Amino acid sequence: MQNPNAEAAGQFRIGGDIPVNRLGFGAMRITGKGIWGAPADPEAARATLRALPELGVDLIDTADSYGPEVSESLIREVLYPYRGLLIATKGGLTRHGPDIWAPVGRPEYLRQCVLMSLRRLDVERIDLWQLHRIDAKVPREEQFQAIAEMRKEGLIRHVGLSEVNVEEIEAARRHFPVATVQNLYNLANRKSEQVLEYCAQQGIGFIPWYPLAAGDLAAPESALSRVAKRLGASNGQVALAWLLRRSPVMLPIPGTSKEAHLRENVAAAQLELSDEDFRALEALPTEA
Ligand SMILES: NC(=O)c1ccc[n+]([C@@H]2O[C@H](COP(=O)([O-])OP(=O)(O)OC[C@H]3O[C@@H](n4cnc5c(N)ncnc54)[C@H](OP(=O)(O)O)[C@@H]3O)[C@@H](O)[C@H]2O)c1
Repeated sequence: MQNPNAEAAGQFRIGGDIPVNRLGFGAMRITGKGIWGAPADPEAARATLRALPELGVDLIDTADSYGPEVSESLIREVLYPYRGLLIATKGGLTRHGPDIWAPVGRPEYLRQCVLMSLRRLDVERIDLWQLHRIDAKVPREEQFQAIAEMRKEGLIRHVGLSEVNVEEIEAARRHFPVATVQNLYNLANRKSEQVLEYCAQQGIGFIPWYPLAAGDLAAPESALSRVAKRLGASNGQVALAWLLRRSPVMLPIPGTSKEAHLRENVAAAQLELSDEDFRALEALPTEA
């Protein structure tokens, strides 16, 4: 596919007021192994970020805990002043080593997360700040209240949640409008189907993480591989095209540390699935 551009995925307005192209970028992979420390090839990570504007990718998902700090700092270094880009970050997870993540939702810590992200990204307000996890050890109302206050103060423009169910989204909406929900969702894992339906009804953006995963569906002679082969596309591109077609509120953020992979992923925005292919993929067995 020539000149891939995320614009071909169509647009969505975050919180009803920030338009973004529906195919975004996940900036978790521009860090070290276990999402810990600097990336193995920092120049490749920088080149990946540098290519985003030209490819029409204007929704960039990161978190203070990616590295930690590494992903946000690289984004600041390469993309500041972010003209036309929405940098969506998260807070509420602490890090104690590679692949170790522990939620802390105490109000003073959530406030520190936001203040430190503001400093690292060098902005006065975060356009989309997501609570990475609700901390089960802290009353959720206290967490929501702290976020509502930061929104009122203007430190946060829109609020998103991550790994939540419908009941939790409704509880949060009593404190602030929920602009986005970021849950694990892909062709092979659709446990969040109900949440997706709810988001679609309510006009909430749904950000599926791990969008490229296809598990056993990606085996060489699988239905997914057959569709991909016929369309001259990769399995990952078909998985992304399926997500984009699945719902107008779907905002996939495939993550990579390599510019070539980024270009391949963005090209999925141009890939059109026939009704028949879409239904065949939908009918594939899932983990749930
Ligand atoms: N809210 C949450 O709790 C949560 C959890 C996990 C992730 N996320 C967010 O969601 C984003 C996406 O999730 P993810 O990164 O776990 O999964 P993903 O985007 O589905 O897959 C990323 C993996 O696939 C590889 N990859 C990407 N494009 C490729 C291509 N064209 N060809 C071959 N390999 C390719 C990447 O390695 P290479 O670097 O080698 O390309 C990486 O190992 C993250 O970046 C992060 O922003 C959120």
